[in-house]
Amino acid sequence: MDASQRETPKLKTTLMSNSSSEFLDALQDSFENDEFPRVVLSAPLKKSSEEVPRKQTLRPIELKNEIVLQWELHFDKLQTHLNLTLAESKERFLSLFGNEYREAYLFGTNFEYTLRATSKGEKLKKRQIKAKKNKQPAQHNRTKNYLIPEGVPIPFLVALGIMTGSGKVKESRQKKFRQINRYLEIVNDVYDQLPAEGPLHVVDFGCGLSYLTFAVHHLLSVIHQREVVLFGIDQKADVIERCELLAHDLNLAGLNFTSGRIEDALQRDKVHLALSLHACDTATDAALTFAVEANADVILAVPCCQHEVFPQIANETLELILKHGILKERIASIATDALRAEALEVAGYKTQILEFIDLEHTPKNLLIRAIRRPESHTKHEAQSYSELKTELGINLLATDQILKTASE
Ligand SMILES: C[S@@+](CC[C@H](N)C(=O)[O-])C[C@H]1O[C@@H](n2cnc3c(N)ncnc32)[C@H](O)[C@@H]1O
Repeated sequence: MDASQRETPKLKTTLMSNSSSEFLDALQDSFENDEFPRVVLSAPLKKSSEEVPRKQTLRPIELKNEIVLQWELHFDKLQTHLNLTLAESKERFLSLFGNEYREAYLFGTNFEYTLRATSKGEKLKKRQIKAKKNKQPAQHNRTKNYLIPEGVPIPFLVALGIMTGSGKVKESRQKKFRQINRYLEIVNDVYDQLPAEGPLHVVDFGCGLSYLTFAVHHLLSVIHQREVVLFGIDQKADVIERCELLAHDLNLAGLNFTSGRIEDALQRDKVHLALSLHACDTATDAALTFAVEANADVILAVPCCQHEVFPQIANETLELILKHGILKERIASIATDALRAEALEVAGYKTQILEFIDLEHTPKNLLIRAIRRPESHTKHEAQSYSELKTELGINLLATDQILKTASE
């Protein structure tokens, strides 16, 4: 029997029943105590379709340092979102429950409520869940704050094999899931630096399998509900083809992929956000050069291996360090990132180097975050950049191209 054939319960009156009222009071208490409750409305009275979501869920999320309630409407092929206040959410719940859905669940920290609309009125059941003896581990608590939490299936994560169809993160993919959420927090932190209106133009250089490209598209288009034009570029044509197919299958508007070398990519539109994550060796410099040329508002780059400076670097004072291969490699890598950061400063960006993610995940864990300064605050002067190169005996570098582009 499908939902449309079930007995239709009496329509609710505008007055709130005691059961709905207790359910919503419990939601409010839990929300106000920062317990991150979840609500699910299911068993639709009309057959689910492109217009009627088969279920709707509600959970608190943090947006711009504020906790809002996010409604997720689960249609057969896609999900849409609404961010509302607690008062608006309670009103919305009352208009849906009993009129469009006959079942509602509230999951709190140590209780569960089941609310059913029947022909005899509303029935509320409360179940106390035994409080755990030990406090939950911090990591688990933390997942409740993630921009993409566990427990709600997200189509691209299901398709990429990170989540199961019910939204559970597979044990073997927990690290990847945490990395994706950490990355989204970093992108979310610069969201305020992007234009507040109009489509957001984003490029992801060396996107590879594009887990993070899909995640950024989700953050901007679903969580922030912005129109997005996002290009992922990678030199591997077969990988790009898979990404294109997936974006098409998931019906993700504005998510495009193109195969080719970053060095050969032509600037098409204005870029607001330029991303590059572990683009190999000098591909990071090519991405930074492209971003500067496109006058990107924000650049987030996590460099990968680098091979340019290592064979060039020479300095008598550093002899004790440079005689050890592994230390030389680290110094070469640090010097490259310092030169990249300084080149971006000269090109008009306020630049910081931050830790990207715990070392347990990857040793390549530095993030260059560059935010375009107002024109009047630009440095226009590359003396420190040249001095460090001279001191370390370095000649030509891919990074020099950033300065050249900035001066053109
Ligand atoms: C280590 S993977 C990172 C993929 C993805 N950004 C991530 O973090 O999961 C590096 C990617 O950069 C691509 N790449 C390296 N050099 C490139 C270049 N010059 N032009 C375009 N893509 C490049 C590689 O094909 C590879 O897919």
